[in-house]
Amino acid sequence: MRRNLVLIGFMGTGKTTIGRILAARLGYPFVDSDRKLESQEGKSISEIFEQAGEEVFRGKEKEMIARLSRYTGTVIATGGGVVLDEENVKRLRRNGILVLLQASPEVILERTGRRQSRPLLAVEEREERVRSLLTQREEVYTQAADVVIDTSECGPQEIAEKIVEFVRQGGWLRGHRRSGHR
Ligand code: S3P
Repeated sequence: MRRNLVLIGFMGTGKTTIGRILAARLGYPFVDSDRKLESQEGKSISEIFEQAGEEVFRGKEKEMIARLSRYTGTVIATGGGVVLDEENVKRLRRNGILVLLQASPEVILERTGRRQSRPLLAVEEREERVRSLLTQREEVYTQAADVVIDTSECGPQEIAEKIVEFVRQGGWLRGHRRSGHR
């Protein structure tokens, strides 16, 4: 059984862009949990937050992750808040390698400033919000990860290559290796 490659990490760390490249590179299908949720609901993430609130969004996100974690041999890009829920992490880990993408607050601010599609960053004090969310989440992200990659300094193509190299070296895609205790 081929394992999934699951990209986790904060908004603006490149999960979707890198995920697409990675999938093409490996000949795997690509799926993005937020985009899939948006097409299922017929609404944008911002509209779901606005109309139903974050809690409802998190519930729908959780159902989506339960579905996606049954996939095999797929590159899955997750929303930045997915791994805050322990059960989501457990499900994704069952058949997936969790790759954490990181970036500095400056880079995140730059990348996420181009679009208005992130309700959690639709505030006056964006920098303060990014920094405080990063601090709150840092531990959960790193605990969930099998491998951590910083994307601040490299282009998406280069990052995708690094991930391919990592998984190939370890034979992870064939399910030979697993970090045992988690
Ligand atoms: C969120 C990240 C977003 C999206 C939603 C909440 C978060 O996804 O799921 O706005 O809690 O970090 P991206 O990481 O793809 O922007």
